[in-house]
Amino acid sequence: MIAVLGSANMDLVTEVARIPRPGETVAGESLRYYPGGKGANQAIAAARLGSAVAFFGKVGRDPFGDRLIQGLRADGVDVSAVARVEEFPTGTASIWVERTGENAIACVPGANGAVDAAYAARIFDRIAVADVLLLQFEIPLATIAFVLERLPKERPIVILDPAPAQSLSGLPLDRIDILTPNRTELSILTGIDGLEPAARRLLSLGVRGVVCKAGDQGAYWIGETTTHVPTMAVEVVDSTAAGDAFNGALGCAVTERSILEAIRFANAAGALATTKHGAQPSLPRRSEVDRLLAAVPSRPVGSPRSRG
Ligand SMILES: Nc1ncnc2c1ncn2[C@@H]1O[C@H](COP(=O)(O)OP(=O)(O)OP(=O)(O)O)[C@@H](O)[C@H]1O
Ligand SMILES: [Mg+2]
Repeated sequence: MIAVLGSANMDLVTEVARIPRPGETVAGESLRYYPGGKGANQAIAAARLGSAVAFFGKVGRDPFGDRLIQGLRADGVDVSAVARVEEFPTGTASIWVERTGENAIACVPGANGAVDAAYAARIFDRIAVADVLLLQFEIPLATIAFVLERLPKERPIVILDPAPAQSLSGLPLDRIDILTPNRTELSILTGIDGLEPAARRLLSLGVRGVVCKAGDQGAYWIGETTTHVPTMAVEVVDSTAAGDAFNGALGCAVTERSILEAIRFANAAGALATTKHGAQPSLPRRSEVDRLLAAVPSRPVGSPRSRG
């Protein structure tokens, strides 16, 4: 079983001809609701790939909360431990988007900010028996520290997505099996620019392994050795949630395959997520990932890239 302890959000996207200046009112062209939050996205990503998944987190007692829970359940995610809170609204991101792609965003963590140690203590026995635990940085870091300090040593496998980037100080890094920053996050977390030295710094601080997500370059595994795992060439439409597709897939594959094969599987899921619009609608199903993996000439992962 995969446990995800994290965020669930509703994104409210208003299309505008022009982003209003302070004090100004402009007519919006449309308003759309998109379920998101890295926690919920990663839970759905793993469930669509065939894993048994339970999501742990909080939403408000409001219609957005109802919709987020329904959406998770529709993908087969166990939501029995999701808490509804009175004091805070469901997390939202209010987004204004111009046709040029320019945007302005205000995020309200709401109920996600109330995913505290007391809640983690209540659900702890359930996450401690999971095979894999997926975490991100959209809930308070104190809660993540609380959980990592108490988990059994050898299970679950902990995969932490340090996004949005925040300082790792205060976290027991030696209980993180796989940290999955992208290049920007890696340099913010370490203050070091090069991928390899930055990742090696994290290993020296106790992290057991680093997977650096690198967009169309695929990903890098930095453990005892460093290995580049190329991704598949796809027609990119919208890269939103590629990272969440990748992490959900990694959680799904890490108990079944070698780390390099698991990263290849996650690359395929991330690549497919870029071929469709939106976050959750673009998260691929198992059959799509299997088809893409079968279509790409299988070369031993980590071998030098072909030069055409
Ligand atoms: N253009 C692309 N072509 C093929 N695969 C891609 C592309 N973009 C992303 N991917 C795949 O998806 C994975 C995750 O994407 P990315 O590196 O953008 O993560 P991220 O920066 O964490 O993204 P997010 O903003 O969604 O959190 C990559 O490691 C890669 O496997
Ligand atoms: Mg990311």
